[in-house]
Amino acid sequence: MKENSKNNHLREIYDDVMLPNYAPAYFVPESAKGSRLWDKDNKEYIDFGGGIAVNSLGHANPDLIDALTKQAQKIWHVSNYLTNESAVKLAQQLTELTFAESVFFSNSGSEANEAAIKIARKYHSSNNSPRSEIVSFEGSFHGRSLLNISLGGTELHKKGFEPLMPGIKHGVFNDIKGLENLISEKTAAVIIEPVQGEAGVYSATQEFMDKLRSLTSIHGALLIVDEVQSGVGRMGSLYGYMHYEIEPDILTSAKGLGGGMPIGATLTTRSIGESMQPGTHGSTFGGNPMACAVADTVLTVVSDKEFLDEVLRKEKLFVKLLNELNEEKSVFSAIRSEGLWIGCDLINEESSKVIDRCYDNGLILVSAGSNCLRLAPALNINDDDIKEGIEILKQVF
Ligand SMILES: Cc1ncc(COP(=O)(O)O)c(C=O)c1O
Repeated sequence: MKENSKNNHLREIYDDVMLPNYAPAYFVPESAKGSRLWDKDNKEYIDFGGGIAVNSLGHANPDLIDALTKQAQKIWHVSNYLTNESAVKLAQQLTELTFAESVFFSNSGSEANEAAIKIARKYHSSNNSPRSEIVSFEGSFHGRSLLNISLGGTELHKKGFEPLMPGIKHGVFNDIKGLENLISEKTAAVIIEPVQGEAGVYSATQEFMDKLRSLTSIHGALLIVDEVQSGVGRMGSLYGYMHYEIEPDILTSAKGLGGGMPIGATLTTRSIGESMQPGTHGSTFGGNPMACAVADTVLTVVSDKEFLDEVLRKEKLFVKLLNELNEEKSVFSAIRSEGLWIGCDLINEESSKVIDRCYDNGLILVSAGSNCLRLAPALNINDDDIKEGIEILKQVF
């Protein structure tokens, strides 16, 4: 940390007044544009973290600013007693682009998952066959509410917060044989990330997803795909389930959907959603008009085939450059990618230390899993930023 840095002052206040549940970088962002960010000392960074897969169209995107300011001048909040035009438009687009016919809006991925599990249980009880059991997978991450840490596979997230939610079974991700014993007539729903992001970008195999879809259908259990991180173009398809060519019963979306505005969405079919009659669930801020207006624009841009093809082209560029770096430096034991979502397992170095050195050199990355560098940049990052960022990473090693 530099003496007399403008970053220091705010960082000290942060430590004084904020709950110590995060440990942010020593620098403080002042402004950002595209995939570049500047701190309070005007130092420039290339952003490969994308706010952890949130800034899908980069920082200060003019189309998103336009959507936000237009909506801000019209109406900010209406409550769920009144029809929210911005939410209706977004729901219309989501249903046109996906398997879904009905949408519930919330403010985050955790809330979207909370709604998904409630919908699944309500669906079974409304059909006079109540089921409570939920199946989830080891290594998964679904959020930080009590329900979501109970679903998740990370012990650290659970310790000290017990009792957790009962009725949850954990299976082994990608263990096809294990699925037979896991799913039964008691299962209300199975929740899965098609690609486990927090674990370090680990993909479910096609065979595993196929088996999961067929077993849930046989037993009348609902298949929930948690696409909070994998969705909205991240994998080079609009949603990850499209990549697997299966149809879920419920899908949760958040993060990149708002491009930086807080929004969560739970998507389902009409026949499943019907059980959620007035009074069964709700959210004061869910479907906020400004968040929905921005998300509607994000979705219009990202759902374009040419845009998604570009995501896949840039994935190839990233992977090529990372492999070249690794041939020279031998720092990664594995490089996994799914679109613009890349996990690099470090061999001899600790991810937190590498990330600190990246900050020193003007590059933002995030960690994942036990010792993995995760890249989840803006989906519209340009080739020059990719090349320059990888060059910085090379210098860091
Ligand atoms: C797959 C997945 N589900 C749910 C969540 C929780 O989302 P939020 O932090 O918006 O509650 C995350 C966040 O990282 C996630 O990656």
